[in-house]
Amino acid sequence: MFDPNNIRKDFPILSREVNGKPLVYLDSGATAQKPECVIETVSRMYREQNANIHRGVHRLSEEATQLYEQARERVRGFIGAAQREEIIFTAGATASINTVAYAWGEKFLQAGDNIIISQMEHHSNIVPWQLVAQRKGVEIRVLPFDDDGRLMVEQLDSLLDANTRLVAVTQASNTLGTRPDLKYVIAKAHAVGARVMVDGCQGVVHGGVNVAELDCDFYAFSGHKLYAPTGIGVLYGKRQILEQMPPFLCGGDMVDRVSFERTTYAELPLKFEAGTSNYVGAIGLGEAIRYLESLDLAAVEAHEKALMLYGEELLSGIDGLRIYGQTQDKCSIISFNIEGVHHYDLGMILDKLGIAIRTGQHCAEPVMARYNVTGMCRASIAMYNTREEIETLHRGVERAVRMLR
Ligand code: ALA
Repeated sequence: MFDPNNIRKDFPILSREVNGKPLVYLDSGATAQKPECVIETVSRMYREQNANIHRGVHRLSEEATQLYEQARERVRGFIGAAQREEIIFTAGATASINTVAYAWGEKFLQAGDNIIISQMEHHSNIVPWQLVAQRKGVEIRVLPFDDDGRLMVEQLDSLLDANTRLVAVTQASNTLGTRPDLKYVIAKAHAVGARVMVDGCQGVVHGGVNVAELDCDFYAFSGHKLYAPTGIGVLYGKRQILEQMPPFLCGGDMVDRVSFERTTYAELPLKFEAGTSNYVGAIGLGEAIRYLESLDLAAVEAHEKALMLYGEELLSGIDGLRIYGQTQDKCSIISFNIEGVHHYDLGMILDKLGIAIRTGQHCAEPVMARYNVTGMCRASIAMYNTREEIETLHRGVERAVRMLR
């Protein structure tokens, strides 16, 4: 059994108070808290080793470059990619998906093609595709989910055709927790020659991934949800596809030779890492992964799931409370609404009690539209959460409901 109390001391912020109450942080789906070792790594970089990477022959630059490339190697191993060339550091998952939408989309999409997007996507796996579709005259098709929040992957048969170029799908929905049957989606898409872009933001945190085994073409995630600093993310792409894509952002570090007559580009992965990258963030991400790998991740996953089930059991005893997302193997996210209670009001009262949850549309407006609601409350559970915190949430929600009704 995994005991969260053994790791809570590693997260300094968890010992603070909010409104005079101990913080109960249940918003890790929006961003996770950082362990001391990550904070210390970032701080040490600036205090002792800071210099621009890939640019100097001096000692500090060499050290920073080495740490950056070690972080890339750690990411590669963590997500099961075959080669370092397939790991691109970006500013975050949004930047990763935009890179594919622009660079791959510009080259491989044309009028008459179509792209299939799951209805439960975060806006960052919808809007970049809409923009490239508008530019290119590409049709967007939507793969729906049912009332329980199950992605209806069997409908792919009627959506996929010879003109489908890409399927955009999440590994785990940030609102419903649903983990679609990705192997099925990928096999179906590949059968018609389409590529698959997987948003791994929540999935990489809850259960991890092996991209080679999954056989997805692209995979994106952000560091900040994986206990790493903000402003750093990863784009994984199969090497032969990345090789064929033109650069997206252009500038320093992504070039080979530059003249006013002709410019050639750097080899992968630097072709997609223009400008001074967030090397401190990348090194912090490497440290976060090192920290995670020191834990029993299967036990962590079981702990998070047990807390989610406990939370669902307690909350569903509250009159008029509806939980969205009822699939068996969902990740540790509880989205809900309560009849007669506005999600913002509930969130504000919980905050007074020191409890942080997310309220609103969770950057997934089509999910809200599917259930005909203006927003939801969301408690997202991380490895450092405890049973006591879930009980505090339950008591807080009961109290808020009494006040608001
Ligand atoms: N995408 C983040 C969330 O789900 C911010 O809350």
